[in-house]
Amino acid sequence: MAAGRALLSSQNGLAAVAPLSSIGYRARGLASSLPLLRRRCPSAFASSSARCCSRPHSEGAGERVMKPEKEEAFVLTTPLYYVNAPPHMGSAYTTIAADAIARFQRLLGKKVVFITGTDEHGEKIAAAAEASGRSPREHCDTISQSYRILWRELDIAYDKFIRTTDLKHEAIVKEFYSRVLNNGDIYRADYEGLYCVNCEEYKDEKELLENNCCPMHLKPCVHRKEDNYFFALSKYQKTLEDYLTSNPDFVKPLFRLNEVQGWIKSGLRDFSISRSSVEWGIPVPNDDKQTIYVWFDALLGYVSALLEEGEQTNLEQAVCSGWPASLHLIGKDILRFHAVYWPAMLLSAGLSVPNMVFGHGFLTKDGMKMGKSLGNTLEPKDLVQRFGADAVRYFFLREVEFGNDGDYSEDRFINIVNAHLANTIGNLLNRTLGLLKKNCQSMLAFDSIIAAEGNSFKDSVDQLVEKAKYHYENLSLSSACESVLDIANAGNLYMDERAPWSLFKQGGASSEMAAKASFETGYFHLCIQLDLVIILEVMRIIATALSPITPSLCSRIYSQLGFSKEQFEAATWDDTKWGGLKAGQIMAEPKPVFARIENIDDGNEVVQNKNKDKKKASRRQGLVEA
Ligand code: MSP
Repeated sequence: MAAGRALLSSQNGLAAVAPLSSIGYRARGLASSLPLLRRRCPSAFASSSARCCSRPHSEGAGERVMKPEKEEAFVLTTPLYYVNAPPHMGSAYTTIAADAIARFQRLLGKKVVFITGTDEHGEKIAAAAEASGRSPREHCDTISQSYRILWRELDIAYDKFIRTTDLKHEAIVKEFYSRVLNNGDIYRADYEGLYCVNCEEYKDEKELLENNCCPMHLKPCVHRKEDNYFFALSKYQKTLEDYLTSNPDFVKPLFRLNEVQGWIKSGLRDFSISRSSVEWGIPVPNDDKQTIYVWFDALLGYVSALLEEGEQTNLEQAVCSGWPASLHLIGKDILRFHAVYWPAMLLSAGLSVPNMVFGHGFLTKDGMKMGKSLGNTLEPKDLVQRFGADAVRYFFLREVEFGNDGDYSEDRFINIVNAHLANTIGNLLNRTLGLLKKNCQSMLAFDSIIAAEGNSFKDSVDQLVEKAKYHYENLSLSSACESVLDIANAGNLYMDERAPWSLFKQGGASSEMAAKASFETGYFHLCIQLDLVIILEVMRIIATALSPITPSLCSRIYSQLGFSKEQFEAATWDDTKWGGLKAGQIMAEPKPVFARIENIDDGNEVVQNKNKDKKKASRRQGLVEA
């Protein structure tokens, strides 16, 4: 972190925001402002160092390992996805970003708890179940499972998958409701207004389009009149205002903080937290004619997810297992729920508020939010099948500035992925390994630290690594990718300038190289080795630094460099320091780590590789080698 800060002061144009390494500590201001606020369980993190914890995994079956002392916890969440329909690329986007951040934090040595899951109650889900001819339970099981499957296909290594229909979750919601009730923040009243079923939200008439259409879903809102229970949000207006003033990092990016402050300033209105017309939900304690409003239910998933198997199912226990969250990652459409309703609810129940809410933008198609309700989605499954998880992850994290909207185009996808992953990174590794094999039997004769002695190229790489770290810490994922790619660009340039192959052909070398090389073991081969070791060290550093974004690709790079899978999995951010490759290391047989995607114009039947039989297959990443 110290190095990251040093870099910040020397680099104009890098936005100064509180790095994530500083979150995970309690935010200022609230403990004193509300008498009810409880202190975080004193043992919450102290105990985690001695506890057995899960390694990142998919499908909840991770290996259990003892982690070292003084682990710092980092709890991050994605939204819990509605199970009205299977996931689309928009829903996958948040999860890919969360996974990259979780992987980066693990590289830093934090004890990460990465929470995702599904939001399964409410009117919208009940209607979807009915339309599919299944019971709500069967429907939820099927769709929830489709999320897990996609996460596996996308290499998402979550730690917890919570379903809001889990019994432990229901118990937590009821206890939470009772706390808020006991705090005097729930009352009964009639409500009349316009409701958007897709948003599961009452809307203000002034925010609607013609015919009372929801601006997000372009469908008319329905008029509703209900006798409901209300949450006294208005009571928290001043507290929230003050909190945001003293904790401006609570909402990121900054322009979203301004939006939230605007909402609060314009006046907070109490909101209805029960539904008398919806059966598919958690019954309101002491009134089973009403169910709890889906948002009042789902947000609690972030807390109930923390409960370990076999632990007591109560709020105190869940809080002791890691609350508050360090970071909620969400899309901008659900910012109000996370940055206004949620902190007020938590305060009412005497719980700490999360440290940060980051609202990213939308993936759009033709400028419209991609979504299940509009039916203009992109199938992540298809993308993964055709191009592989690394390509999908890389493209969306590199191409869309995290926080802003980004449009998808297949041409752009193919161009970016080919240029960056196949040509710049893959080729650099492949040609270097080829030369090493041809001239040096694939074995390194130098430690990389010796090979780079007095070479300023190493310093440039060190600086780019620091830059990448800085960007990761600030959730600027696209810039982090860019910095790592700059290392590969610098590597390619270095190779082209030094042209070790021509050196070999010429049979000559500079005196500086000659001094380092030993005549006994083959003078020219050793001269070539100096440059090749340098580039392979660069590849090792790239594979470590890019592993949060493209884990499989980076694992393949490690294996080409002669490391085992276990060595890759044990890597930490410290491994981005120069000096990992040692003399005697034997590289694997050179094999392209990322294959070019061939661009074929389906519409006009133009097949660039001229082989029609190969047409279908060649669209897939993996068949046309770089
Ligand atoms: N169930 C609620 C969240 C409850 S969290 C306690 C919900 N679910 S959702 O499935 O509709 O949306 C989940 C997330 O996906 C939201 O953050 C939303 O912004 C995101 N996205 C859905 N479509 C999207 C795009 N087209 N682009 C980027 N993200 C989008 O809301």
